[in-house]
Amino acid sequence: KILILDFGSQYTQLIARRVREIGVYCEVRAFDMTDQEVIDFDPKGVILAGGPESVPEPGSPRAPEAVFNLGVPVFGICYGMQTMAEQLGGKVQGSEVREFGYAQIRKHDGPSLFDDIQDHVANNGIALLDVWMSHGDKVVAMPEEFTLMASTDSCPIAAMANETKKFYGVQFHPEVTHTLQGGRILSRFVVDICGCDTLWTPANIAQDAIERMQAQVGDRKVLLALSGGVDSSVVAALLHKAIGSQLTCVFVDNGLLRLNEGDQVMKMFADNMGVKVIRVDAEDLFLGKLAGEADPEVKRKIIGNTFIDIFDDEAGKLTDVDFLAQGTIYPDVIESAASKTGKAHVIKSHHNVGGLPEDMQFELVEPLRELFKDEVRKLGLELGLPYDMVYRHPFPGPGLGVRILGEVKKDYADILRRADAIFIEELRRSGWYDKTSQAFAVFLPVKSVGVVGDGRRYEYVVALRAVETIDFMTARWAHLPYELLETVSGRIINEIEHISRVTYDVSSKPPATIEWE
Ligand code: XMP
Repeated sequence: KILILDFGSQYTQLIARRVREIGVYCEVRAFDMTDQEVIDFDPKGVILAGGPESVPEPGSPRAPEAVFNLGVPVFGICYGMQTMAEQLGGKVQGSEVREFGYAQIRKHDGPSLFDDIQDHVANNGIALLDVWMSHGDKVVAMPEEFTLMASTDSCPIAAMANETKKFYGVQFHPEVTHTLQGGRILSRFVVDICGCDTLWTPANIAQDAIERMQAQVGDRKVLLALSGGVDSSVVAALLHKAIGSQLTCVFVDNGLLRLNEGDQVMKMFADNMGVKVIRVDAEDLFLGKLAGEADPEVKRKIIGNTFIDIFDDEAGKLTDVDFLAQGTIYPDVIESAASKTGKAHVIKSHHNVGGLPEDMQFELVEPLRELFKDEVRKLGLELGLPYDMVYRHPFPGPGLGVRILGEVKKDYADILRRADAIFIEELRRSGWYDKTSQAFAVFLPVKSVGVVGDGRRYEYVVALRAVETIDFMTARWAHLPYELLETVSGRIINEIEHISRVTYDVSSKPPATIEWE
């Protein structure tokens, strides 16, 4: 396995995902691991990732010395290259000016990292690579025994290597897709240079997870809160394969789900797969508690707490359950170096409602703890879950509760469910579902005048929201074709009598959020 040391760059997780895509297992750790921890990790190679700090600044982070003494290959990227240079006796110069964007680097003969990898050959025979740069500081003197691997006019030492020790450094970012040969460079490092096997495949991940679950659980029993979302669905499928009837799922229908969602979850897991699922129909309870409440945060709390009460109740009815399964995934687990250096800030997204009480007397089973979202999806497919379920847009825990503005009522939820289903159906039909990251309808409890035939209609408004985003922290409103919006709006107004007007939300995040509440 490969060790990736994080110095706080937003790209660190991307490096890890790229390495895993190549089929090599890796883990991200913060830069301040002790030497002993590095030795115990026993990596076949180490990648020093980027970071927002400046190496010449006193107190800036360094890699543990052990990294350079293990006798394994080391690959420094951006800040990682700079701290490698500094720690091994080279020199880094600070700079106020940042170089950001495309650059063409000239390759120098020799080092195996770039061997045979290039984008163009110039007239004078020099091989060129198109790369993505993002840096201010740069290495101005290489450590002894290093040779120059590549350069640009503004960055004479753009890549360096100590071929004997297999230490490499690049100033550019091989992990971003703008660096066209980045995947090959990373693969060259982890596979050819470090000698890792490419065994990290969905089939192996599944097999491995099943065996680990069997070993952990033995013949005891596991409880899972199944929401129908990707993570809990994959956990259910996996545990069902691993321990069969020792798994019990609780699925709470809070009345704020999408159209037919409860039935679909039951059909999929209980009927088709034979998973033991207890369905709790709690619509009345949730809507009763929400009655009269218009404040979004209070609504969130009510929904979250009601869920916990119900789940607690159901758990109490079961006997001899020892484990609680959770769909925690790797990005929730990575201890971010960003929070340690305090430079890059992490904006915490909402906790999933479904967060369970801490005083529950269960051991945890978290089979997805090491996986990125894209790996969870591939694992889901491997376990036989349908594509549409595994590649579904995210759906917030409070569901339609935060998509009905103000007070939640059953009538509103019923109208919204139908409008939302029409929108999603047309997105799928037109091929736009997979091109957007999240899309849904929002219910506005205001009335607007319309005309149908000879009659005047005075009914509610629905807003459509569709966004494109990578991380859900920032998002751009999706530029859906007018024809598609026309079809959706026409169908909603014609098919749902209580809606007289449809609008499209053209706000990006920030300053607007993705949800309306
Ligand atoms: P916002 O609206 O903050 O949403 O731009 C970002 C992402 O988070 C989801 N979201 C939630 N998820 N409980 C959740 O489990 C919540 O209370 C909640 N609020 C927003 C939202 O759907 C989007 O994917």
